[in-house]
Amino acid sequence: MPIPTPRRSLLPLIAGHGTGRSALTCRYRCGDACFHEVPNTSDNPYFGDVAASAFSRRSVLKAGAVVALAGAATTALGRQDAVAAPTAGAPGSSTDAAVGLRFTPIAQQSDDAVTVPAGYLHDVVMRWGDPLFSDAPAFDAANQTEAAQLRQFGYNNDHVGLLPLNNQDEQVMVVNHEYTSEPMMFPDYDPENPTEEQVRIAWAAHGLTVVGVTGKHRGPRSGAFDAIVDHPLNRRLHVRTEFELTGPAAGSDHLKTSADPEGRLVLGTLNNCAGGLTPWGTWLTAEENFNQYFANAGAVTDPVARQRLSRYGLGSGASERRWERFDDRFDLAKEPNEANRFGWIVEVDPFDPTSTPRKRTALGRFKHEAATIRIAADGRAVAYMGDDERFDYLYKFVSRDRYRQGDAAHNATLLDNGTLYVARLTGDSPAAEIDGTGTLPSDGEFDGAGEWIPLVTGNVSHVPGMTAEEVLIFTRQAGDAVGATKMDRPEDVEPSPKTGTVYVALTNNTRRTAAQAHEANPRGNNKHGHVLELEEAGADAAAATFAWRILLLCGDPEDPSTYFAGFDKSQVSPISCPDNLAFDDHGNLWISTDGQPGTLGTNDALYGVAVAGKHRGEVRQFLAVPHGGETCGPVVTDKRVLVAVQHPGEIDGASYETPLSNWPDGGTSIPRPSIVVAYRADGKTIGQA
Ligand code: FEO
Ligand code: CA
Ligand code: CA
Repeated sequence: MPIPTPRRSLLPLIAGHGTGRSALTCRYRCGDACFHEVPNTSDNPYFGDVAASAFSRRSVLKAGAVVALAGAATTALGRQDAVAAPTAGAPGSSTDAAVGLRFTPIAQQSDDAVTVPAGYLHDVVMRWGDPLFSDAPAFDAANQTEAAQLRQFGYNNDHVGLLPLNNQDEQVMVVNHEYTSEPMMFPDYDPENPTEEQVRIAWAAHGLTVVGVTGKHRGPRSGAFDAIVDHPLNRRLHVRTEFELTGPAAGSDHLKTSADPEGRLVLGTLNNCAGGLTPWGTWLTAEENFNQYFANAGAVTDPVARQRLSRYGLGSGASERRWERFDDRFDLAKEPNEANRFGWIVEVDPFDPTSTPRKRTALGRFKHEAATIRIAADGRAVAYMGDDERFDYLYKFVSRDRYRQGDAAHNATLLDNGTLYVARLTGDSPAAEIDGTGTLPSDGEFDGAGEWIPLVTGNVSHVPGMTAEEVLIFTRQAGDAVGATKMDRPEDVEPSPKTGTVYVALTNNTRRTAAQAHEANPRGNNKHGHVLELEEAGADAAAATFAWRILLLCGDPEDPSTYFAGFDKSQVSPISCPDNLAFDDHGNLWISTDGQPGTLGTNDALYGVAVAGKHRGEVRQFLAVPHGGETCGPVVTDKRVLVAVQHPGEIDGASYETPLSNWPDGGTSIPRPSIVVAYRADGKTIGQA
């Protein structure tokens, strides 16, 4: 019999920094980005008047009783049969749901385990430290070395992509490794005095992994698969790998350093968050909170340069990880341009292990969350992108040239030439009706129109007072100058492959006040975030204008400020802090979350959401990650669902000596960020009854 449990506050809420995350995560992942002052001090309008109308709460449908799950304990290797017992009441049963979402939603979780619906299994595919090559040692937490980590899977996996190979039995999995959590990785870690070997291991644990995977040893009915050690495409890229700067800003004086007087060759990639796959078979990965790795921005005295540094959150004093002690380029007092060489979209060819990945300057420099591609009506490639910072902007890039199917050499140039745009959104309801509470305006929707404001085309700037190079390298200031709309932390921006409608995850923004609320970001103290839909004019991804509306105002459905596209709130799963987005083959949107421990008191999770038909707005929880972890990188196919479990057990007070999660290895082991695959026990299709 299922055991009834309360639906909320399964864990003590994490105080954090208003982000939903632990202070440990804030410190090591984002350099305490949300703790510092908002870097956007521009006076762009918020498009919101102070609301005069009285706060009027709508009546709320009470959610039905929720019963708990019976999760099995974690076993060695994380191979386990943890399943959730069927829920009674909200949300609806597995047969009465959109096609592709016909599973029994799981309840909110707090276990140190991955949880999947009844009838599903899951398995760990790769863990931090697993060898990619047979010359690498097995993971040994107490005896880590740089040499071993360079040949092993990196730390804190985030984006996940699967690319087909001609060999039907195999695929290529690409994974990035956003950041390192040194106190949880290393015995006796002293944050004030890291050893050189610890720093070098961290350099090797950052970056990217390309690895072959196969399910052929698991049988045709299983969705499980395994990494292939020594696959010819296996590759690690890290903080000391060579990357080429390409596009209009390559060679700029702002990108030159003493080690690279040409401004075209960078060592390493940093803080890769989400990403995307291109139709031409390459991988885009996004450099996000790069600022935290650089020390001594305060030594830069030129006022223009200082303003540029501060707009990107580059601060004074030592860096968190003290890398500047072991490589001068992380010290801005010595190499003031080095930080300009990070914050780019990186394009990798996973099918050529000898290729040099390219940092595409035409796509602008900011705290890139991801880049996702859609081919426009005339064949040009469009990249959608978010700048993940409170009050920062939404962008797109439209290539000059057209995509040519099968012409890899031509397609490899698409992201070097084109126009970069930033979004301005306006609402269609009176500003006085947007009071910051989430109460719908009288026309029944948060919606309106938008325009893509051109910033730069090739070497031609469209921003008065800024050169093209400056627009591309200091893109945030270009957005400020043209009056872009300040958003609530734009994370994944993903066009539906079926409809072309673009979905934008806006994670949260507790710094927005009610007075700053406007129709596109309509809640003050927006701790649960929301999801926006954009429809390009003429359904053309290259259009200059769009219509938009809010699909979800996230949170516990009992919270009157939530909105689920008008769907019955008693039939949806609680969801907070939407981050990464993906689509299944049926056109359903899948959303992974980053911050529910702090906002709902439950583990982060993965949800399927219908976006069309009578089920539009129905949110169904499919999977939850172990406590302290974040759900990243979802990939949803007919046969399997992949997630990256990032920073499991990263809870305040956790350390190598005091692990607060033992997932996935169990016992008293330290937690290991890992890729997990979920699939049907009966071998049938995901989400089909
Ligand atoms: Fe790395 Fe925007 O999350
Ligand atoms: Ca409206
Ligand atoms: Ca993210």
